[in-house]
Amino acid sequence: MIITIDGPVATGKSTIAKKLAASLGYIYFDTGAMYRALTYGVLKNKIDCTNTDQLKEYLNRFSYKIRSKFGEKYYYVDGEDVSQQIRGDEVTSNVSRVSALPVVREKLVSLQRELASGVNAVFEGRDMGTVVFPDARLKIFLTGRPEVRAQRRFDELKEKFPEEAANLTMEKVLEDLNKRDNYDSSRETSPLKQAEDAYLVDTSDLTPDEIVFKILEFKDAKARQK
Ligand code: DC
Repeated sequence: MIITIDGPVATGKSTIAKKLAASLGYIYFDTGAMYRALTYGVLKNKIDCTNTDQLKEYLNRFSYKIRSKFGEKYYYVDGEDVSQQIRGDEVTSNVSRVSALPVVREKLVSLQRELASGVNAVFEGRDMGTVVFPDARLKIFLTGRPEVRAQRRFDELKEKFPEEAANLTMEKVLEDLNKRDNYDSSRETSPLKQAEDAYLVDTSDLTPDEIVFKILEFKDAKARQK
């Protein structure tokens, strides 16, 4: 069974997908990490994204691996562990632009469908319920007030990148978050949007456990509908 979780920046998608998957004995996939990993590869190899042939050539040789160690996921691009770098500023400020390109989406969507074959999994991203797995049994769309989401992202950046984030302000985080959400929602190919049959959960005033509990209730309700 496939469960999809979509939503804008810092709605808690990864935390929830991880917890939900653990409680069900499913595996989870963070598809944002895939777009980030590809963006890292594009930047490192100085691929000109306006040159479709060059980009396609890189997509054909792009190698992406996920490893789990002690419950944490590690991401490898062309053999290099990029788990830290893909969360950094350079990748974050380029990922929306790279992930809006149709050839990029074509490649990563087919990779995501391959990963889903024959497994029980939670997939989180932006277009999981609308494009990648339109027939998923359970679809969730997370939202949250922008100030609450910005505060979460601010705390996360301060913790993970204390040096880079030393001069960071809440205003800047909120501005970046709104910019990325607008870009992701307004692109032509697979924009961020709630699937018609997705359950909407506002995460602003809920703890991760409360959100997972709600999702498990939706799952039971779906099972009863059979
Ligand atoms: O979830 P995240 O912030 O790590 O995602 C990074 C970017 O990747 C996000 O700004 C848009 C893109 N993305 C996407 O286009 N489609 C997905 N399924 C997941 C992420």
